[in-house]
Amino acid sequence: MLSPAQRQRWHDEGCLVLPGFKPEAELAALRRRSLAIVEASEPAAVFSTVERSRLADAALLASATAVHCFFEEEAVDAQGHLTVPKARAVNKIGHALHDRDPVFDRFSRDPRLAGLVHELGVAEPRLWQSMLIFKQPRIGGEVTWHQDASFLATEPDDSVVGLWFALEEATLDNGCLWIEPGGHRGPLRERYVNDGGTLRMLPLDTTPWPEAERTRALPVPAGTLVVLHGRLPHASAPNRSGVSRMAYTLHVTDGRMRYAPNNWLQRGADFPVRGF
Ligand code: FE2
Repeated sequence: MLSPAQRQRWHDEGCLVLPGFKPEAELAALRRRSLAIVEASEPAAVFSTVERSRLADAALLASATAVHCFFEEEAVDAQGHLTVPKARAVNKIGHALHDRDPVFDRFSRDPRLAGLVHELGVAEPRLWQSMLIFKQPRIGGEVTWHQDASFLATEPDDSVVGLWFALEEATLDNGCLWIEPGGHRGPLRERYVNDGGTLRMLPLDTTPWPEAERTRALPVPAGTLVVLHGRLPHASAPNRSGVSRMAYTLHVTDGRMRYAPNNWLQRGADFPVRGF
């Protein structure tokens, strides 16, 4: 499926951009289903990548095996009430959409994705995590520089691959992805671990996040699949535009590697991780 040039790019840059990977009908089905999930949910927890409280920890841990809606900090007042309609207040849904929801299951278990990650070296795919990221107009929050392997570490090698689907056009104005091309060859800076029930970021390496001149924006049309190496530094800016930037992400590790037992996201024997 991948051309020699695409394989070279994956090797050199740790990122692949595949426009037109998903047809509009599938994107629309996912957008519709996402809004239905939000409408049926009860706002309960606030998600912020800047500050993670103990309350948010409990909601995050529970979401590992569930379909949970996280709401924007700026959309909830001091009493915990939403200040904008629910559909405009949600930050994301996570983290077991692909196993708990039939629409997301179908979208995620696409044989072409199985073929793609196999070509990238993932011999025994394990679908640990899915997220629907809304990036709302005006209030869609920043996602600071990070590496996905910080959250889904495997040993002895990092094996996680991120599959990022643009459900709507992503632009410089509405908070498209930014990457550091080639940065996947650098070290893993930190790990987000469950330390006896407390979630915390563990520093590993002091290599700074990239200066602006080493980064590249990835504005892409709806339907594009962006594939991210687990150690590739990436980020996205806040959305200050008037349009949303919905994206769906799926994170896959290689079952030949040991999934770190202190990763924040775990599953019990009653709900084992599966492949495609
Ligand atoms: Fe990420």
